[in-house]
Amino acid sequence: MPKNNAAGILGTGAYLPEKILTNQDLEKMVETSDDWIVSRTGIRERRISGEGEASSDLAYFAAKKALESAGILAEQIDLIIVATITPDTSFPSTANVLQDRLGAKRAASFDLAAACSGFLYGVATASQFIENGLYRYALVVGVECLSKIVDWSDRNTCVLFGDGAGAAVLGPVKLGSGFLSFELGSDGSGGELLKLPAGGSRLPASAETIANKQHFLYMSGSDVFKFAVRVMGSSAEAAIEKAGLTKDDIDFLVPHQANIRIIDSAVKRLGLTKDKVVVNLDRYGNMSAASIPVALDEAVRNGKINDGDHLVLVGFGGGLTWGAAVLKWSTKEKD
Ligand code: ACO
Repeated sequence: MPKNNAAGILGTGAYLPEKILTNQDLEKMVETSDDWIVSRTGIRERRISGEGEASSDLAYFAAKKALESAGILAEQIDLIIVATITPDTSFPSTANVLQDRLGAKRAASFDLAAACSGFLYGVATASQFIENGLYRYALVVGVECLSKIVDWSDRNTCVLFGDGAGAAVLGPVKLGSGFLSFELGSDGSGGELLKLPAGGSRLPASAETIANKQHFLYMSGSDVFKFAVRVMGSSAEAAIEKAGLTKDDIDFLVPHQANIRIIDSAVKRLGLTKDKVVVNLDRYGNMSAASIPVALDEAVRNGKINDGDHLVLVGFGGGLTWGAAVLKWSTKEKD
């Protein structure tokens, strides 16, 4: 259906906790090595939130920076979506906490759980409200404190993840700019491959669930790896086609930062050169919903991404879920 209005990203922001945990630090905690982690994943270090520091704290600082770069006041925001699988609490939502702390008095706010695809699901949702004219400005935050749900004695998972927050302010842009297409998908039959087993209505918290370590993230790494390689390429290609573009039109790929081998396979399939890919997992590891917005913010602030560039954002994660978006970069707001 032809669009009458377009939604784009007017500003971005990110926040990373100060504490750095290196591969050398992990060598002292579990049976692993810097060499194994770097060669199998590409990760060298990750950020860890402090004791008492929660997702809404990280989200707040990322959101402030995004609002500042967009030149928008918190009071002008109509909608806040926080994509996270590590909310402060089940309820109130982390978005509610953020709405209050920012003073975004007129904003509706809710959390969205789509694991590592959460930011893409969030911008896809928010842009619908802007395109149909119901809202003018939306704040979408991807934030995780995965260090709080990782089993620090399990080398299969603890080396992979990190904490962080990335945010984007969405608003109306000129038709033909901003988000050109979305490709979202899910396959709940693979839900068992990546999950937090207890703490919900299926297995409420009890002394037994704690003793069985069921409040820690579980992942079948090699199954998720195979799934990721498949959907990263296919969803990016589908989004490019929906946008009426070809792979040759793509200036930058901003992929979910889980594993450099997964990114490389998507890059190969899309026929891109490495200078067209935004990678920061060496410094931050996999920050789930925060990975894509943090990478995007860094690329924008480094001057890598400029007006008129065509970007593909693509991710996959627990659920199983996946998503891709194509946008023509323009932070210029339409009157
Ligand atoms: N250090 C040393 N050895 C390790 C470590 C470690 N940190 N972790 C695992 N190993 C061992 C395993 O025990 C295994 O040993 P074994 O053969 O004696 O049993 C061996 O290394 C190989 O394990 P594999 O699983 O085959 O290793 P692989 O090359 O597949 O890499 C990895 C594992 C990095 C987890 C990979 O499978 C991967 O990246 N999967 C995708 C994870 C992902 O992207 N998750 C994203 C979603 S997260 C979300 O939505 C919240």
